Amino acid sequence: MTANHEWTPDARELADLELLLSGAFHPLTGFLGHDDLHAVHERGTLADGTPWPAPVTLHLPEEHAARAGDTVTLLDPEGAALAVLTVTERGLDGLVAGPVEGLGPAEHGPFARLRLGPADVRKELADRPALAVTMRGPLDDLTLSEILATAEELEAVTVLLPLAYGETGPSVVRAALKARDKLPVGTMVVSVPLAPREDPAIDLELREHVADTYGATEHLAGPEPITLPGPPHRRGLVVFFTGLSGSGKSTIARALRDSLLELGTRTITYLDGDVVRHLLSKGLTFAKADRDLNIRRIGFVAAEAARHGGLAICAPIAPYAATREEVRHMVESVGADFLLVHIATPLAECERRDRKGLYAKARAGLIPEFTGISDPYEEPDDADLVIDTTHLSIEAATSRVLDTLRSGGWIR
Ligand code: ADX
Repeated sequence: MTANHEWTPDARELADLELLLSGAFHPLTGFLGHDDLHAVHERGTLADGTPWPAPVTLHLPEEHAARAGDTVTLLDPEGAALAVLTVTERGLDGLVAGPVEGLGPAEHGPFARLRLGPADVRKELADRPALAVTMRGPLDDLTLSEILATAEELEAVTVLLPLAYGETGPSVVRAALKARDKLPVGTMVVSVPLAPREDPAIDLELREHVADTYGATEHLAGPEPITLPGPPHRRGLVVFFTGLSGSGKSTIARALRDSLLELGTRTITYLDGDVVRHLLSKGLTFAKADRDLNIRRIGFVAAEAARHGGLAICAPIAPYAATREEVRHMVESVGADFLLVHIATPLAECERRDRKGLYAKARAGLIPEFTGISDPYEEPDDADLVIDTTHLSIEAATSRVLDTLRSGGWIR
């Protein structure tokens, strides 16, 4: 005697069910039993040796005395029958294993029209190479340019696979639609309800596997979602000084660094213009293209530090407004804050001080393209703080920056 049971799996199990039914979990056709789970755990394969990275399980409470040979009708939260599971194994721990058969297309949840199965996508790709990008959050500019470059190199169609699961699912799909607008025409968006696996390595392998099933020639994992902005004292911050050579940027930046180190509540990355040019930007000239590259490199490193909640202090001349704006954007796109501090000491005063003797050389024509003399400096109109050091001590100038950090809540 076999019996039929009815059961509504939890959200994670329903997500896995949808992928089993759509073929995204190929070659799996059902929930895994003991031997397969053991092999997955030990070797990253199924019991028969087929590579498979992650457990795919269904739990049925003990009161459902489902035995091998029974069937279980799996319902969605609204009670609609989605699939029938034929039980091949019932574990003591309440796990039930067995193949599943769909009862019709899954139509619940938002963005149903974007939930194509692998067969549909492969058909649309028609053997063209594909770059699949699995996403759990928005794509930053860096990832977008990586996608563009890779797709061009492979002459591939880009397939964005938002892994829409749980509360944040819809926002991931929206992020994919937004990213599509910035990518070449023909870029596809296919929503895949893949629940994240706890172990990041296993999660990545499973993403790769699913991308493969969708016909990917190459897989790229999008960045982990930025967690909602925390309080400012935990959020990443880039304090970006800009100003003429000799304006006092480096001195104030250094004093700021020292004060923050004494305070001890934030991790500091210090990127002074002259220091950067000794290593990170060694070999670059002061021609516009090289200055821009220099600033982008500084911005990149600062954004990476800020991405992980660090506080980066940068102090290059950064004479071009557009490039400073680019850095602001880079930093904000990793969920960190950007503070532009213009050290607005006038040229006459910088030249009067001429601490390194460079202005004299520049006037004498010995240094070409010298900022303020024979090269432009675009005054910021978007500075968060403007400090003229003509009549201000280093201590007072540094205090003004610290006050701004305190009033903004970045330090306490
Ligand atoms: S920027 O191009 O990115 O804005 P950066 O801050 O790296 O400049 O370097 C500026 C420092 O390089 C100056 O403080 C000065 O010591 C030195 N320098 C050498 N040549 C020049 C130049 N042509 N213009 C400006 N600074 C120069």
